[in-house]
Amino acid sequence: MHHFAYKNGALHAEDVSLPQLAAEIGTPFYCYSTATLERHYRVLAEAFEGQDAVICFAVKANSNQSVLATMARLGAGMDVVSEGELRRARAAGVAAGKIIFAGVGKSREEMAYALREGIFGFNVESEPELTLLSEVASGLGATARVALRVNPDVDAKTHAKISTGKSENKFGIPYLDAVRLYDVARGLPGLEVSGIHMHIGSQITDLAPFRDAFRLMRDLALALRREGHRILHLDIGGGLGIPYRSDEDAPPHPEAYAALVREVLGDLDVRIYLEPGRMIVGNAGILVTRVLYAKAGAGKRFTIVDAAMNDLLRPTLYEAHHEIWPVMEERASGTTGLQDIVGPVCETGDYLAVERTLPIFEPGDLLAVMSAGAYGAVMSSTYNTRLLVPEILVRGGEHALVRPRPSYEALIGLDRPAPWLAGG
Ligand code: LLP
Repeated sequence: MHHFAYKNGALHAEDVSLPQLAAEIGTPFYCYSTATLERHYRVLAEAFEGQDAVICFAVKANSNQSVLATMARLGAGMDVVSEGELRRARAAGVAAGKIIFAGVGKSREEMAYALREGIFGFNVESEPELTLLSEVASGLGATARVALRVNPDVDAKTHAKISTGKSENKFGIPYLDAVRLYDVARGLPGLEVSGIHMHIGSQITDLAPFRDAFRLMRDLALALRREGHRILHLDIGGGLGIPYRSDEDAPPHPEAYAALVREVLGDLDVRIYLEPGRMIVGNAGILVTRVLYAKAGAGKRFTIVDAAMNDLLRPTLYEAHHEIWPVMEERASGTTGLQDIVGPVCETGDYLAVERTLPIFEPGDLLAVMSAGAYGAVMSSTYNTRLLVPEILVRGGEHALVRPRPSYEALIGLDRPAPWLAGG
């Protein structure tokens, strides 16, 4: 469900006309809908009503500060994986006490920064990390609240590059080693170990892997309590998938997900932390791009647009399917043809859609690449010395340029000539 729809023949983001935005800002650009962000957050929050649950938005999915501030105003905490994300969340007005620091490779400096900020806690992924965190916290005279991330060896049945809960993945501590490590942690100064964390992957479209993981989490919580550990919170990660294609069944509704959490974990008397990213922001954003050229290849067309793999990497990296909508509605009812939608970057893997039957587009046409709000702008780069793509946030009939397109001077000016090459 989202708020991108045709009105008077043109695609709108809520009440804002995309052709008008394109004329004002230029293309390509990302466009986010506040109403969609708010709706997704509320659907999830309402599904968990009656459970002691805290929603920590996964900043990695979309870290624009206006998106974060929108979430924070609804009451969300944040899940961050770097000092940079922590700084962004704080700059967007998120209370430190609502921030969880996750990630497999936190540095000493990042730990110290987060402790000084006073974040809620750390999800720790290994014994050496635990030892270092203890050292850093004790050195600062602070106490770090900790959940150990446990790898349940559950197959999330998602794309291999975004599956995180199998034993061969780098994440977490082995399930069978968990009790030993909680015992180790209990003996370390500067730590208050009171939670368990699991995150088995992203874009999960079936509840069964969640059920398996939650059951293992439950068993572990009970086993740890038998050993005298205080388990006060369970961080169940993110990962609930979203519909990317209109011709496929929708993934489980948040209601069903929340009911599963209640069924498996509901009697444990713990606070549940959620780390959703994609399900909140994925369908709340689109990438708008303009057709530069159309050319006939052998057996299919190539529609060459001004957005590329550096702007939206998901099709290239994960063979991800994003629907392509013409911005002008009349194109949708015209002739169609088999085609690739490709960008200007000099790589065969530079595509936004491959071998799709889509309207025959003409140079100058605008296209919307749908479901691009999560892992879109955040994964963009300046490859081929292309400018980072701007971001626009819409609310009703209003819009704001929440990340302007940088200038070429700013981009090229990042380099410093080696002293022996300076001065021509
Ligand atoms: N928590 C942890 C520990 C995570 O690693 C992630 C995502 C999340 C929460 C949020 O997961 P979500 O609810 O968004 O599924 N770039 C990839 C996705 C990478 C996900 C990484 N971790 C993509 O574009 O599909």
